Amino acid sequence: MTRTLIQGGTVVSSTGASLQDVLIDGETVTALLAPGRLEVTAETVIDATGKYVIPGGIDGHTHMEMPFGGTQASDTFETGTRAAAWGGTTTIVDFVVQAHGQRVQDQVATWHEKASGNCAIDYGFHQIIGDVDSESLKAMDELIGEGITSFKLFMAYPGVFLSSDGQIVQTMQAAAQNGGLIMMHAENGSAIDVLVQQALERGDTAPYFHGVTRPWQTEQEATHRAVMLADLTGAPLYVVHVSAKQALSRIVEARDTGQNVFAETCPQYLYLSLEEQLGAPGFDGAKWVCSTPLRSREEGHQDELWKFIRTGDVTAVSTDHCPFCMKEQKELGVGNFSKIPNGIGSVEHRMDLLYQGVHDGRISLERWVEVCCTAPARMFGLYGKKGVLAPGADADVVVYDPLGHTSIGMGEGRSHHMNMDYSAWEGFEIDGHVDIVLSRGTVIKDESGYIGRRGHGQFVRRGLSQNLI
Ligand code: URP
Ligand code: ZN
Ligand code: ZN
Ligand code: ZN
Repeated sequence: MTRTLIQGGTVVSSTGASLQDVLIDGETVTALLAPGRLEVTAETVIDATGKYVIPGGIDGHTHMEMPFGGTQASDTFETGTRAAAWGGTTTIVDFVVQAHGQRVQDQVATWHEKASGNCAIDYGFHQIIGDVDSESLKAMDELIGEGITSFKLFMAYPGVFLSSDGQIVQTMQAAAQNGGLIMMHAENGSAIDVLVQQALERGDTAPYFHGVTRPWQTEQEATHRAVMLADLTGAPLYVVHVSAKQALSRIVEARDTGQNVFAETCPQYLYLSLEEQLGAPGFDGAKWVCSTPLRSREEGHQDELWKFIRTGDVTAVSTDHCPFCMKEQKELGVGNFSKIPNGIGSVEHRMDLLYQGVHDGRISLERWVEVCCTAPARMFGLYGKKGVLAPGADADVVVYDPLGHTSIGMGEGRSHHMNMDYSAWEGFEIDGHVDIVLSRGTVIKDESGYIGRRGHGQFVRRGLSQNLI
């Protein structure tokens, strides 16, 4: 077994930071050592002097190769996980999709086929249940035994994914029984469809109107309903991609009563806005069409989200990585914003974008590690193996240089390895840099770039959430 020693760095966890050396045997962390106290020999020694040494990032929300609106997300499991590795993410949890008329277990088999042998980093699955019936409810119990322990429902996209309140109650009741976690896309899809139709009839067809027709009320209303139905059934609830401060305040209220309710947000909702990005001239705003939509900066949603990351009421930050190229994909919606495939690509940049929050004094170093690594691990039943540097954990490690610099985008000298023909983050400058990335003890990215291997990444069978009250 190869021994690796990461020496001289500051190990940062969700609870503190101190000078420690990390000893790895094969794929596993075996010890954290006070520097210089023991004479340790290792085949590979990584000098981390002046750097942060943190657990590999866990992106709990990605959509590689996801079918959407007649096309599919442009990153495959191969290209998307490679880009993730570049950016210091060593585990993704992607979504198996069941739409109306499909069988859950068939879809699980299809997703295993897509991912198996193709990933650069470890991966797990959540299950989207888009067709709640007795068969899919039964499949939930089976999936828990197969390491797929969380289930996403949609209150949006009528006719494709939307579940009725009755179906939501049934699924939540099943989760309350089998220990699964309910993930909710909380937007009132029926109300949105009316607003979209009316906008198109008025001739308001530009990408900006994607945001206008999904106002915060549609997010807050659905979030409130999800919270109440979770309370009714006793199911734990994780609300994905929260962007509206009013929806978040409803989650905070529920948490204050002791309910098992959790909020996820994404870098796009922390940095980008309805006015600046969705409102870009011509068709350019299509680059940032995603749901929930980017919110108004004038209304102050971005600052509120940062605040609740600080307080702990936003539990995790994932990307909702769902990239589409402009050419032939986003372009499907020229002249009709409702035909623009929904999604933004960020899997490569999450660790950097959130580290910028540390640099800018918005969050602490420890909160950075918590929301990007440790909390997602606990939330999704990976903690112990993932999300922490401790004896027995998988040696998924990032050496991060706080004095380094990362220019994001597709221009010369910039970082972009996702399979897209544009960057939603073009020109973003980060005061930090992912230097070295290890996945289960193997260096997959160093200063020369990506040196990992397709197929190195393994499917992770997840346990039940370790984050519930
Ligand atoms: O716009 C988004 N978020 N696309 C991905 C699918 C989803 O709802 O998460
Ligand atoms: Zn969603
Ligand atoms: Zn998503
Ligand atoms: Zn560097």
